[in-house]
Amino acid sequence: MNIVYHEGSRTFHLYNDRISYIMTIMKNGHPGQLYFGRQIRDREDFSYLLETCHRPMTSCVYENDGGFSLEHIRQEYPVFGTTDYRQPAVEIRQENGSRISDFQYQGYTITEGKPSLQGLPATYTESAQEARTLVLTLEDAVTKVRVQLYYTIFAKGGILARSVRFTNTGAQPVWLARAMSLCLDLPDREYVWQQLSGCWARECHIHNRNLEPGIVSIGSMRGNSSHEHNPFLILKRPGTDERQGEAVGVSFIYSGNFRIQAEVDAHDTLRILAGIDPETFTWKLEGQETFQTPEAVLVYTDRGLNHLSQTLHGLYRKRLARGYWRDRARPVLNNNWEATYFNFTQDRLLEIAARAKECGVELFVLDDGWFGARSSDHAGLGDWKANRERLPEGIAGLAEKIERMGLKFGLWFEPEMVNKDSDFYRQHPDWILSTPQRRQSQGRNQYVLDFSRKEVVDAIYEQMADILTNAKISYIKWDMNRSITECYSQTLPPDRQGEVYHRYILGVYALYERLTSEFPEVLFESCASGGGRFDPGMLYYAPQAWTSDDSDAVERLKIQYGASMCYPVSSMGTHVSVTPNHQVFRNTPLHTRANVAYFGTFGYELDLNQLSPEETEEVKAQIVFMKKYREVLQYGTFYRLKSPFEGNEAAWMVVSDDQKTALVGWYRILNCANGNFTRLRLEGLNPEFCYRNAKTGRCHFGDELMYAGLITSDGTAGQAPAGEMPSSDFDSRMYVLEVAES
Ligand code: DGJ
Repeated sequence: MNIVYHEGSRTFHLYNDRISYIMTIMKNGHPGQLYFGRQIRDREDFSYLLETCHRPMTSCVYENDGGFSLEHIRQEYPVFGTTDYRQPAVEIRQENGSRISDFQYQGYTITEGKPSLQGLPATYTESAQEARTLVLTLEDAVTKVRVQLYYTIFAKGGILARSVRFTNTGAQPVWLARAMSLCLDLPDREYVWQQLSGCWARECHIHNRNLEPGIVSIGSMRGNSSHEHNPFLILKRPGTDERQGEAVGVSFIYSGNFRIQAEVDAHDTLRILAGIDPETFTWKLEGQETFQTPEAVLVYTDRGLNHLSQTLHGLYRKRLARGYWRDRARPVLNNNWEATYFNFTQDRLLEIAARAKECGVELFVLDDGWFGARSSDHAGLGDWKANRERLPEGIAGLAEKIERMGLKFGLWFEPEMVNKDSDFYRQHPDWILSTPQRRQSQGRNQYVLDFSRKEVVDAIYEQMADILTNAKISYIKWDMNRSITECYSQTLPPDRQGEVYHRYILGVYALYERLTSEFPEVLFESCASGGGRFDPGMLYYAPQAWTSDDSDAVERLKIQYGASMCYPVSSMGTHVSVTPNHQVFRNTPLHTRANVAYFGTFGYELDLNQLSPEETEEVKAQIVFMKKYREVLQYGTFYRLKSPFEGNEAAWMVVSDDQKTALVGWYRILNCANGNFTRLRLEGLNPEFCYRNAKTGRCHFGDELMYAGLITSDGTAGQAPAGEMPSSDFDSRMYVLEVAES
């Protein structure tokens, strides 16, 4: 990996074994973008890549400057309205009302490693050799605002991390009206745009579209990154698929309002922007103050979407997630939510836990309803003290009992929220986000605490830390069940109200940081009604997230398949629940529910006492299986093989690092009579290794399995031979392939 500066041509070339990123300082003093893609050899001058064809009838040009215009030029951090008419990366409102700026290049630094971003989640390095960082410093002479563009290239993989730091070096205040983390101007629009979108219980569905002139965007203005759009974009060349082809990924490490957009101009130049949503953001910068944007990660591959995802999985598993649980196999858990909802007593919980223990579960999680006056979702949020009517021995007593059973104990919180029917709200009615003289909208009967205020965050911290200190708690599920409305903070002046959404998320991050560093061995799982905040920002603090409130196995195929585009298996909370399923009322076989949940952190969301003896035996076997293979499932290399968005079958697989073990999940939605002969071409195996298929007992070399394929034909094909169980709808199989030891 290297970062080279060519003085003569004022060109920067960042490259590693896979990618090159090339910029130049243009004659107007702004950094221009020359190339991003597959690694190319370095040379002194790439300035021919800067095409400045003059278009006299449309372009406005710099006065007395030989017809120079920014209108069609690819730039690194563009402003609007001074010959460029596309959407800008930055907009600075000044005291005189102007929004024009002119950021002139001042100099650069190159450092080993990667600096952290204060108060924000970001990728990191563990040694200086893992990455190098280039910082370009620009300054606007009128406002004296300094902009520092950060580019970190990692030694391995097609990854470039970007962020921006603003400093007002002048005396007058300015207002950042837009401060995107990344601008990437590309020379053409020959890409298919792929986004992950949906809604509650239907997150991360894959949507594709061609890019046409104009603007396409995804984003959130809800205060959380949202169920609706994940902060992730893939641009793939037409013809790119899972196994081959070029693609660029843009992932935004942030949990609040965001925007990722593509603008195609009249000459098919493509501008990608990613950052905090500009519509809901302004930030006042007084003299000497700084503002740090969140980080955006750019990924490039020329080896297909699986490779793009694997690059991100590796980065997010090892250099975004942190702490004790980062590399550890996750405990098999039993969560009581779908088993009891609010209807439980201590005895009932202990019954559920006892059966869970008998089946091999390792962690019992008590979900919503254990605190304050919480007998329904109308009361109690904010009062993080055990409800003694339900839990006479408190959380400490219950945790002790669970531990004595040989289980770990986990607990649910929703720290950012309050019900009006709570002591916390009665004491602090002015601690919620609400606009004076306006209605206060509610969601799930609750209100959002003003986490932009330190005293509010501190008060919640005190309550949580008290429980964590006094009870044996090994896991926390941190939920967040509504979006923000009437966003306004009582303590900020009028010209800082545009800061509230971002300050809110900074408050959430601050609380996470404090709790995770003071209780480092507690496993945190983030959740926002399922996948409402399933984003890289959260993964920095909580290495796993509840992927969706939809626990139906068939629905989960799409959700987990979509999420895997960006997020590793180890980050996806996946549970087996009862049938008929509580979200779609579908009946799926128990083995299919487990076969889907194995590709995640794995657990049960039901009362195992309710199962038949045969089902209980099946569950015991599932847990033995998961414990045996979870390192491979959660930390192996993941491949998507067949998309549930494209047909009746879906498949994916993982391969261990030593390539000696592979686990293949195959799923068929509806049965078909007299079906076809089917084969699945596997990926990532060693062609020289001979793998034993545990189902058939037969051995096959890796090349056979990858090129001829694994036979998945249904032997019963709608007519079961004597003695064989016919398969039906929602069937699935796990294929275990292990290198035969001799
Ligand atoms: C929403 C979560 O996604 C569920 O798993 C559960 O924790 C409920 N909230 C509890 O209110």
